[in-house]
Amino acid sequence: MSPIREDLRNAQAHDPAARNAFETFLVASGLHAVWWHRWHHWLWNHRFKLVARVGSQMMRFWTGIEIHPGATIGRRFFIDHGMGVVIGETAEIGDDVMMYHGVTLGGRSLQHTKRHPTVRDGVTIGAGAKVIGPIVIGERSVIGANAVVVKDVPADSVAVGIPATLTPRKKITGSSPAARKKATRATDPGVDVAWTDPAVFI
Ligand SMILES: CC(C)(COP(=O)(O)OP(=O)(O)OC[C@H]1O[C@@H](n2cnc3c(N)ncnc32)[C@H](O)[C@@H]1OP(=O)(O)O)[C@@H](O)C(=O)NCCC(=O)NCCS
Repeated sequence: MSPIREDLRNAQAHDPAARNAFETFLVASGLHAVWWHRWHHWLWNHRFKLVARVGSQMMRFWTGIEIHPGATIGRRFFIDHGMGVVIGETAEIGDDVMMYHGVTLGGRSLQHTKRHPTVRDGVTIGAGAKVIGPIVIGERSVIGANAVVVKDVPADSVAVGIPATLTPRKKITGSSPAARKKATRATDPGVDVAWTDPAVFI
């Protein structure tokens, strides 16, 4: 499957407001930002840094999403709504990560070193959350809306509040419709997991 088709399918799975692939292709500014970022990242890594920066700023103007061209982003990354997202130069994002508007993956240091977060596969980051510093957000964890995360988050955790406090995601065993419904409601951001894995974490 082509990366664009894959992204469109993923966006439709995660956005209940998405009606069809064509409409999503036209209006999903989170996807536009990610598609252009792939090109800007290539330019950045091939020493066309100024062109990459200018391109990234143009995308910011167009979408309200600022992704530094140096940031490393995996497959099926979906930003819903998008406006106000900032992703720093040394941020690393795995596969199947989802985030909402107003998220910052920012730095806490002015050193020219790795200073932005690493977000592992399957993480969901709620609207307005600030994740700052060279910390690691473990696989499948969920960052609540408006949380401020300044320390590592283990895999399968939920982080909420300022500064964020951590709790393990609950595990639901069994794939009964009731369990799935509960898991889907509880993880809305992690819906895929709920529908594909009978051992669901919320
Ligand atoms: C963090 C989150 C994943 C928790 O979802 P959940 O597992 O279903 O948890 P619940 O809704 O059952 O809430 C559990 C507790 O955490 C609290 N809580 C939930 N989200 C919170 C948040 N973002 N910050 C602080 N506390 C939060 C609830 O009030 C509840 O507290 P209580 O036990 O004292 O009643 C979810 O609330 C969230 O923030 N998701 C992001 C959604 C988002 O950004 N949507 C944008 C759409 S445009």
